[in-house]
Amino acid sequence: MAKTAQIRDALSKFLQSADDHNRLAAAELGRTALQSGIGVVEWAGTVHSVVLETLQTTHSPENRERLGNAAQVFLMECLSAYDMAFQGAREARMALRHQIERMEAHDQRIAREMHDTAGQLLVSAYMELHLAAHASSGAAPYLSKANALLDQVQSHLRRFAQELRPPVLDDLGLMPALRALGQSIATRGSIAVTVEGDTNGRLAPPVEVALYRTAEEALSNVVKHSGAAHAEVLVERRPHEVRCTVTDDGVGFSDSDSLLNPRLGLIGLRERLRPLGGSIRWGSIPSLEGSMAQGSTVIATVPLKEEVRYATESIDR
Ligand SMILES: Nc1ncnc2c1ncn2[C@@H]1O[C@H](COP(=O)(O)OP(=O)(O)OP(=O)(O)O)[C@@H](O)[C@H]1O
Ligand SMILES: [Mg+2]
Repeated sequence: MAKTAQIRDALSKFLQSADDHNRLAAAELGRTALQSGIGVVEWAGTVHSVVLETLQTTHSPENRERLGNAAQVFLMECLSAYDMAFQGAREARMALRHQIERMEAHDQRIAREMHDTAGQLLVSAYMELHLAAHASSGAAPYLSKANALLDQVQSHLRRFAQELRPPVLDDLGLMPALRALGQSIATRGSIAVTVEGDTNGRLAPPVEVALYRTAEEALSNVVKHSGAAHAEVLVERRPHEVRCTVTDDGVGFSDSDSLLNPRLGLIGLRERLRPLGGSIRWGSIPSLEGSMAQGSTVIATVPLKEEVRYATESIDR
């Protein structure tokens, strides 16, 4: 049956009886109509014409009022899928804008640090080389200072490269990159980070990057918000999917957090995983005896069949 005919049919049934069964059918019809591209205007037109037809045979004012109310409820049920899709699109737009702003701020910081640190060290190295070239006797001390300065430039450049895109991720894969990430977070702060699991071989590059960025954001949240003493990153390769779970033993998320904070870091991850067919969940975990105390968990999942589809493509940050 064509979609508009289905709408007419469902509405006619609904006008006869607005029971739970017909309500659920209306909501389901809304979802499938959205997927097949039926627009809101088409809905309004179809509902309007069915209501007009029914009104012609409905004469008592009570029945007319009941009909109007039922048509309104029907539309609300059907259009709830559109409302959710609209909310999702709005969140995705916000996350994208936030991500772009974050990348801009990050690029600006790297550019400034390159200028202020590596750039200044290079100027000093040039000066030492100049002094060495013009030294009437004993250029060695100047050359050795220039050498030391160039060593510092090299280590700064390594750090910048690491921050932009860890070479270990491309060279050795997700697990070594996550271990390096965990170690660097643990040495910078007061949080112990354990990294467990196995990918059973390399994953497609976009999947590795997406799961790495997931762990990076989740661990950065642990540092910023949780007050945790311990965080754990667990990677599991299952028959049809790969999963990355980040858990901590901190304060957890409360409902008021979710209302007060727009969660653009986490929403950004959802948008990053979406093109891979992946998904993400987050929230508080109940206190488990003998395990970590109450804290938070973030679980990202990517299906492996999608991974194959993307295996030859590359998504960068
Ligand atoms: N591990 C955690 N422990 C406790 N609260 C958390 C944790 N992770 C996230 N939250 C809560 O969820 C909110 C949303 O996190 P999200 O990463 O989306 O945004 P953010 O970290 O506040 O900002 P940013 O956009 O810079 O990431 C946080 O502000 C915090 O209140
Ligand atoms: Mg965050």
